[in-house]
Amino acid sequence: MLVCESWKPVVWSSQYSVGVDAIDDDHKKLIHLFNDLLSAFANGSAERVLRDTIARAIDYTETHFAKEEAFLQQISFPFAVEHQREHRALRCELDRIAARLSAGRDHHADAELVAFLGNWVVTHVLDHDQAYFAHLRSIGAIG
Ligand SMILES: [Fe+2]
Ligand SMILES: [Fe+2]
Repeated sequence: MLVCESWKPVVWSSQYSVGVDAIDDDHKKLIHLFNDLLSAFANGSAERVLRDTIARAIDYTETHFAKEEAFLQQISFPFAVEHQREHRALRCELDRIAARLSAGRDHHADAELVAFLGNWVVTHVLDHDQAYFAHLRSIGAIG
């Protein structure tokens, strides 16, 4: 199994907050799911455990994106369409990797998924989602 040494668990910190508890809670849960996936790989967990963990990560991603997109409409976020487009691209990539996985045991695809989710958690949730934090402040929705 290919396990890249640069994969490190992500640790939540208040600097990642978007100022909305419900969304922060989702992001924490996504980070938690990613960290579970990471340790499942690192510990050489059984295939069933890996698949369950991957399925939970994908399911929760879908749930979170839908919730966040509704929220961005609600607050009239000016870049809601671009944000939705980015979610769609991430979802397509997840679907592509999930399809490879369901086609048969593919360690390379598993490793690719972990790397992808890790990168996604860090760059999207902890960075791109910060864009609407600034918007919420500018409309006085948060202090
Ligand atoms: Fe998000
Ligand atoms: Fe997002």
